[in-house]
Formats: sequence, C-alpha cells, structure tokens
Amino acid sequence: GITRHYKFNIKMQSVTRLCQSKSIVTVNGQYPGPTIIAREGDRVIVKVVNLVQYNVTIHWHGVRQLRSGWADGPAYITQCPIQTGQSYVYNFTITGQRGTLFWHAHISWLRVTLHGPIIILPKRGVPYPFPQPYKEVPLIFGEWWKADTETMINQAMQTGAAPNISDAHTINGLPGPLYNCSAKDTFKLKVKPGKTYLLSLINAAMNDDLFFSIANHNLTVVEADAVYVKPFKTNTILITPGQTTNVLLKTKNHHPNASFLMAASPYATGPAAFDNSTTAGILEYHRSSNTTKKINKLPLIKPLLPIFNNTKFATKFSRKIRSLAKSKVPQKVDRRFFFTVGLGLTSCPNPNGTCQGPNNTMVAAAVNNVSFVMPNTALLQAHFFNQSKGVYTTDFPANPPVKFNYTGNPPSNIMVTKGTKVVMLPFNTSVEVVLQDTSIIGAESHPLHLHGFNFFIVGQGFGNFNPNKDPAKFNLNDPAERNTVGVPSGGWVAIRFLADNPGVWFMHCHFEVHTSWGLKMAWIVMDGVRRNQKLPPPPADLPKC
Ligand code: C2O
Repeated sequence: GITRHYKFNIKMQSVTRLCQSKSIVTVNGQYPGPTIIAREGDRVIVKVVNLVQYNVTIHWHGVRQLRSGWADGPAYITQCPIQTGQSYVYNFTITGQRGTLFWHAHISWLRVTLHGPIIILPKRGVPYPFPQPYKEVPLIFGEWWKADTETMINQAMQTGAAPNISDAHTINGLPGPLYNCSAKDTFKLKVKPGKTYLLSLINAAMNDDLFFSIANHNLTVVEADAVYVKPFKTNTILITPGQTTNVLLKTKNHHPNASFLMAASPYATGPAAFDNSTTAGILEYHRSSNTTKKINKLPLIKPLLPIFNNTKFATKFSRKIRSLAKSKVPQKVDRRFFFTVGLGLTSCPNPNGTCQGPNNTMVAAAVNNVSFVMPNTALLQAHFFNQSKGVYTTDFPANPPVKFNYTGNPPSNIMVTKGTKVVMLPFNTSVEVVLQDTSIIGAESHPLHLHGFNFFIVGQGFGNFNPNKDPAKFNLNDPAERNTVGVPSGGWVAIRFLADNPGVWFMHCHFEVHTSWGLKMAWIVMDGVRRNQKLPPPPADLPKC
C-alpha cells in the first residue's frame, strides 16, 4: 500500500440551517467533514491541529488499529485530548477491511458536527465481489440542533437530565424539504438511467437509530461495517449510530417522469423523547439541458418508511446480514461474560445531578451496574507505563451483581455504582459477551460499539438470555461481523471476538446521551510474547493531560 496524508484543521465555522445561523466546530471549515479515501493496506496519516477553544480528539470509527492503539482516539481512553493550539498526528494502517467507516470527534458531544466518511477501496486491481458501480456516493446521516454548540453540550453533559432532542435529522448535513425553511438545504443525487450506484451509508447521528429508503427503488445491501456481506435486496434499511453499510442502487432504465425522495426517520422503542422528524434528499434523473426546466414540475414521490416502533422490521432486517465467506468466528470460547446494559439509578445528591429520580436518586447508565467514570489521564498510558494506581481498577464484573428478571419488573435494590473498572484479557483470549438489555427504567435498544475489533454476532433474541438453551442456536457459520450491534429493546445479543490486538479498547453505547451517563467500559488486552504481538511505545507528540 501507499501512504496518504491528510491535514485536519479544527476550526469554527458559521453555518445556517432551518433559517438560523450558528458557529460550529468543523474540520477545515467543512460540515460534514472531508472524506478520507484509502485502499486496503494503505497507511493513513492525519495531522490534527486544534484551533478552537475546546479540547479535541478524533476517532477512526471501526478501523481495527492493529498494534496502533495510540491512534484510536477516544479521549482519556487511548490519549489525552489535543488542547487548544496543539496538534497530534494519527498514524495507522488499514488492515483487512474494505467498505465504509467514518471518523468523528471522541470527546464530550463534539461529534455532533465533527464527522466525515472513511471510504476503503479494495487493493489496486482487486475487484469488488459485486458488480462494479458506475459511481460511489457517501450519504452521512446526522442530527442538527438550533441551539448553539456550547449550550447543547453543557445541557447534555449534565447527567441525570435528558438533553433537548435535535431539531432535524440530516443527509450530508442537509435537513431537506420536509422541514420549515429548509427546501434549499436539500441533498440532491443526480443520476443517469440504467446505472449502478454504490451508496455508502453512515449513521453519525447522536441518539437515533434510523430507517432509510428511496421511493420506488430497491437497495441491495453488500457490506456492513467494512466487511462484505451476502447481498440481499430490501426497500428499507435500518442503521444504528456507529453503523455503516454499502448498498447498490440500480437506477431505472428509462427516464421516469418523476423525482424520488430518499428519506430517513427514526426507529425508537424506549420511554425517552426523541426527534421523530424525517430528513429527505432528492434522487433526480439527469436529463439533457433543454428539458431541465421541467424537472421542478415533476411529481415528487415519497418512500413509505416503517413506523418509528416497527421492531418486527428492525429484527428481520438485522438478521439478514450474514458474512460472505466462511468466517473466522471463534469456535471455542476462553472467557464468557454476561453484561446487562441499560439505565439505572445512582444515589444523589451529586454536584452535577438534578436528582429527579425516585427517592432522591439520579439517572445513570451502566454495564453490570457499573457506571463508568472517565479518568483524568488516559488509560492506555497508565497501562503501558504500569501506572494504573489511582487511575483504574481491574475488577470489572463478568456478571451482574444480582440476578433478576432483566426484561420484567425490576427489583428495587438495583442501584448503580460508579467506577473506572476494566477487564484484563491475556493476548489471544477468545471472548464471548452476552449483552442483555434491561428494563430498570424502561427497555430501550442500545447500539453497542467495540473499539479495536470486529466481533461476530452469533446470537440474538428477546426476553432474558437462557444460558442452557440459547447457545445451541448460535450461528457459528456465517454470522454478521461488525463493530456496532443494536442490543434489542427487551432482548439480548451474543458476540464473540478474538483479543488479538494489544491495547486499551473502549466499548460503549453509541447513543451519546447513554455514553455520557456511563454506559461504557474498557478492555485491556495484554501484550503477547512475540515481538509482533506487542503494542509499540507511544509517538513523541502524544498529547499530555
Ligand atoms: Cu464511534 Cu467510541 O465511537
């Protein structure tokens, strides 16, 4: 592979949406940010210069970062933040991945405007395992708030009080014609008839799973989270925050006398308020110049999206995603974990809390009743230099403290504790984690994301996971291989991964509000004995806390 250099200047930029202007944090003044394009095997070097008043880090979401953990990016996990006026060079190689990923800020809520696509092409001369597309187009979904970024972040970081919901969803930063004062801010995809387009879909929204569909057109899913999958046709896709997927769009053979809306609207089942609005873009068939005037008068056909709580569709869709090749699913398991994921209550008063929970408690989010507390220094440095004392403890529980009916009425004694706890894994441990959604404060789905690995989704179901019956039904043959999985509301998923990447790896809900509340934890994968099984020392410019 070759080396590709990028420069990201983090700077403020005034942007107008929904008839209001505000100053937002951007890369090089662009919103959404620039696209990184590389081939499998290439080295990517990005110099990030912080020219804003906020601390910043950038995460290359889904990039495996094999022995390059210093470049992963989550603040206080693998690095201290890049402070105002400072810079840091991220340096990593794309290994064994092809398709779409994305990059985003990984500190406070800055990723709301700091994000952009990563497109990974096959090695030069290697064809796709599907028809060569005529053109490739990234579609990145986001959320837009009218409130200025600072107000929004402050509100969001106050744990225990839900932040305001967004004012619009966006496609490539544009809300589209279904919002007031937004018709001119519409993403348009001009296409030719009889061609195949590859759409790189990315859900960079903060808190919403999304359905996406294009009126009168089918989509063929060919890739998920930078892994090619068995192709299948669908008229709608489901994509959670943190997921990416490539779909083929075959345009009609003749100029249809119509324009078609492409639209995204949320999938949500929980008790929390959410932005139930629809963002739309236009699929416009290209015509010769003397007929373009007529285009605006063409009828606009809208897609039929599932209703927001259509779990039946969501489940069916997720189960269709299957690995292409007979995959490297770990057949044996060295260590098993059972993690409850969901909301809970911590004791109050708390300096930041509003204590609006029952009996003077505060809402938190937790894994196995541990609500993760961010350390003041980066875990990876503490681990690498053997300075864990006072930074983290290695007693993250492998099982919940109390067994209960996770999807039924919760008992009253399920309180959440706070701590910076991690799990230590010897190099090459084969890990199975059952992620069980809980209904302590209402069941809600959670897009769980793991840094540093792809995992295999070997099982999923509703109700409580049954360790005596469910493993017999696991798919160890062609399960989806991803970095983000939707743990279903009132259900569970089982994942497996091989801990072959030394470093500190964050795992968290990709709903920013839940991450802020503590639905996160970290794995520490120890070095192996051989030289190529060890994490190299940090680069000289690694930021200090
Ligand atoms: Cu895309 Cu830790 O995140």
